[in-house]
Amino acid sequence: MCGIFAYLNFNITRERRYILEVLFNGLRRLEYRGYDSAGISIDSSLDSSNADVIPPPLVFRQEGNIESLVKSVYQEVAATDLNLEESFSIHAGIAHTRWATHGEPAPRNSHPQTSDAGNEFVVVHNGVITNYEVLKETLVRHGFTFESDTDTEVIPKLAKFVFDNANEEGVGDKSVTFSQVVLEVMRHLEGAYALIFKSRHYPNELIACKRGSPLLLGVKELTGEASRASFTDTKFLSSNGQPKELFLSSDASALVEHTKKVLVIEDGEVVHLKDGGASIFKFDHGKGKSGGTLIRPASVQRALSVLEMEVEQINKGKYEHYMQKEIHEQPESLTTTMRGRLIRGGSCKAKSVLLGGLKDHLKTIRRSRRIVFIGCGTSYNAALAARPILEELSGIPVTMEIASDLLDRQGPIYREDTAVFVSQSGETADTLQALEYALENGALCVGITNTVGSAIARNTHCGVHINAGCEIGVASTKAYTSQIVVMAMLALAIGDDTISSQARRGAIIDGLFDLPSKVKEVLKLDQEMKDLAKLLIAEQSLLVFGRGYNYATALEGALKVKEVALMHSEGILAGEMKHGPLALVDETLPIVVIATRDACFSKQQSVIQQLHARKGRLIVMCTKGDAASVCVGGSSRIIEVPRVEDCLQPVINIVPLQLLAYHLTVLRGYNVDQPRNLAKSVTTQ
Ligand code: F6R
Repeated sequence: MCGIFAYLNFNITRERRYILEVLFNGLRRLEYRGYDSAGISIDSSLDSSNADVIPPPLVFRQEGNIESLVKSVYQEVAATDLNLEESFSIHAGIAHTRWATHGEPAPRNSHPQTSDAGNEFVVVHNGVITNYEVLKETLVRHGFTFESDTDTEVIPKLAKFVFDNANEEGVGDKSVTFSQVVLEVMRHLEGAYALIFKSRHYPNELIACKRGSPLLLGVKELTGEASRASFTDTKFLSSNGQPKELFLSSDASALVEHTKKVLVIEDGEVVHLKDGGASIFKFDHGKGKSGGTLIRPASVQRALSVLEMEVEQINKGKYEHYMQKEIHEQPESLTTTMRGRLIRGGSCKAKSVLLGGLKDHLKTIRRSRRIVFIGCGTSYNAALAARPILEELSGIPVTMEIASDLLDRQGPIYREDTAVFVSQSGETADTLQALEYALENGALCVGITNTVGSAIARNTHCGVHINAGCEIGVASTKAYTSQIVVMAMLALAIGDDTISSQARRGAIIDGLFDLPSKVKEVLKLDQEMKDLAKLLIAEQSLLVFGRGYNYATALEGALKVKEVALMHSEGILAGEMKHGPLALVDETLPIVVIATRDACFSKQQSVIQQLHARKGRLIVMCTKGDAASVCVGGSSRIIEVPRVEDCLQPVINIVPLQLLAYHLTVLRGYNVDQPRNLAKSVTTQ
């Protein structure tokens, strides 16, 4: 949901062309967060005959994706006398890629949003300002005119209002610092945001601040690094005159090609980039006075941390699309998810699971009255796939909650509950709000996320990282399978290691060890799924029937087809078939039936019979070697998959459906990595 990025070079000469390219590349990395429109703000040239007059920052905005922006910026540059080779020893640029919330995708609703025609303050924003209407009314009363339909436009205008007021009160230009202005602005904002400010009044400075939406600072020192013992040191943020490049970004994927030294900006913090240094201030709600007097912020000292991410992870490598790459790298991502967490046992050691992030809380979890899984979309589906094994091994009732629905109903959450929050990004607004709600209600909160340092990872009492590696394709694939594996390990960790359960536990652990090689095997169905996609290319609709462990597979397979191939698709609980969905069945509508071996197999055989009796056009997914047992009348198309332990079968079964969705999308000519109207990380409600 929108990506923001900034680049500031200090004491190192960079040409305008270079600065533009760094900003564009930053946006390309963040494009998966939104691709409705994009924009940047950079410096104009200083007038050498009148260096005292700071020219306004330049703002470029364009509807469409990043490449449309790039094209329009270079066209505009060519049409004006802006010199791409002009060099700057210090320069601050900001950039934005948008997923529209307030206002249609159009240049005037794109970011940066500005305070006035002179661009005194320009702002890029990820999030939603919930009280923008009230602020807008006040600003209109003070003579401001608004051009956009966005919630964001109030922010630069409020900054100008604060700045002008401070100066009118006689404190004089420059006695009010950029960070004071932003702290005062923040005091009036409600909602979720990560913001970057650039201002004509504070050239060569940037301010970033956040509440709710993610933001990172990246620091690249260009000399003097070798002499330092450790860069996880507050000194790295000081303005020591060393040539530096500083970056701000909504996530690590836009930083890793420049630096691995990052500071995760926390809620309520304001980071002021000035003279090559970064000062951090904490917003303090209680201190400000409305109407002019600016608050005195408390300064914060924090050290940098090191990104555990490689550039290769964020490149497509030999693949054409991120979704394709992420589907095919599941054998590796699953291996990483399990690394160091499974103990196969030796002569004296039992097979077991180690989840370090939970070890101090396992007793409390075992004593809980109920486990509640909470998530959205694919993450919810992953939890649904893991629910039966958690119930079986723990003996604790497990209930499922879609985060938004829990909030809508204000459903009951008790102190005796363990609430498990499942989220790839760790930033999904609904899941985060549900987390706040569960914390208020006193539940023990466990986070299962793919993003170290994300809001869900930070705000839960304990948790497990799925370690699937950076997932860039908007459609979640490898995170789904890693989430299921983590939740299967969670079930093993919570469940008692009794004599009676040992054989089952051992079989699951062996199954987990073998899973990456089985996924490799099922990936060989790629061509077969492409052929199936060719058959289905012109269909309007696809149903997917599953039950038991694979009800989740039906929902998730249908979600993939729907969101990327833009084909209507519905996952149906096979047990519900006769209670309505059967009416849809005829000889034209394609239906995938998941009938791999588990306790529900014979029931699925009857479902196939009944669908066949109504001339259903069947595609049956079955266990290798079972084709004859599921094929009625020889008319069904068969997808044979390797057999694994029943609770792990959803990890295998989803892969052909991921491949099918991928190929359908490519064949139908849609953008696989950027499905229409969607964005990864849904940080607005
Ligand atoms: C579908 C998809 C979404 C997400 C959902 C939750 O492919 O990616 O349904 O699963 O928006 O996102 P996270 O897992 O980041 O909380």
